Amino acid sequence: MSRPVAAPPGLQVVWTRAELAAVRAGWSGSVAVVMTMGALHDGHAALLRAAAHRADHVIVTVFVNPLQFGPTEDFDRYPRTIDDDLEICRQAGVGAVFAPSRAEIYPDGEPMVRLDPGPLGGILEGASRPGFFHGVLTVVLKLLQITRPDLAFFGEKDYQQLTLVRRMVRDLDLPVEIVGVPTVREPDGLARSSRNRYLSAPQRQVALGLSAALRAGAAHASGGGAFDEVLSAARLAFDRAAGGDAELDYLVLTDPQLGPPVAGAGRLLIAARVGGTRLIDNMPVELTGSRAEGP
Ligand code: PAJ
Repeated sequence: MSRPVAAPPGLQVVWTRAELAAVRAGWSGSVAVVMTMGALHDGHAALLRAAAHRADHVIVTVFVNPLQFGPTEDFDRYPRTIDDDLEICRQAGVGAVFAPSRAEIYPDGEPMVRLDPGPLGGILEGASRPGFFHGVLTVVLKLLQITRPDLAFFGEKDYQQLTLVRRMVRDLDLPVEIVGVPTVREPDGLARSSRNRYLSAPQRQVALGLSAALRAGAAHASGGGAFDEVLSAARLAFDRAAGGDAELDYLVLTDPQLGPPVAGAGRLLIAARVGGTRLIDNMPVELTGSRAEGP
């Protein structure tokens, strides 16, 4: 990979596609993109660092995409912290931040044509949030077209999103390499999320039930537990940690592509509502036991 001879220029902040194209035209070498909705935290920072490590130039997009929010979701109160975001980008060696307006991305209003995520878009997050993955994949494709990266980095935190983006790239022959980055957690296990700031101190304790469930399930899996034992161990740990104060949406065991679980690599995924906040988490598991408990 060719690195620029001169020191990388400082962070450039652009708001329009034309400005971004001009910045990009001045670059040589490989380009990575990290797409975000802002409110950056350590989880995003891990993506930025991974991108800066692999590519000569990194573009970060900051855009709260209205298309992926349902009518009762938190679009209006989604945190917007652009000054802090820029500082995090600067520290991670990002070359350009693209922070477009809604009109810049959707100049004709809501797009008539949208990406259909297919059957994987209707399960798990898609079952609770109809239209969510249509909105996500549509904006991801648009941002890939606008930024034209060689590499795009996505967090395993949003595992279904990562899986669907990979699938879109394969199914539609998009010329970009998708790189997944492991979930960054708080020291107590809670997955970092922009939505954690909505949690009160007691709710934050309850929220630990999600990662506790995943850890218990993963331990049972590598200990040779049958698939249903893995799930019941996870459920028990969730109930113990969260008590009656969280509403479980789903707790499922799948293969790495979100299909039915098979022996070997698997994924355990969970979603729950704590107060008014919907939280998701997932973990890789190694399934060493049998499909069912006994004959
Ligand atoms: P956002 O929630 O801002 O997340 C941006 C990226 O950061 C996603 O790839 C997400 O998986 C990753 N990320 C968030 N928390 C993480 C954590 N704790 N560890 C590792 N990675 C983490 O995901 C979106 O925005 C949007 O749907 C987007 C792709 C930008 C399309 O609008």
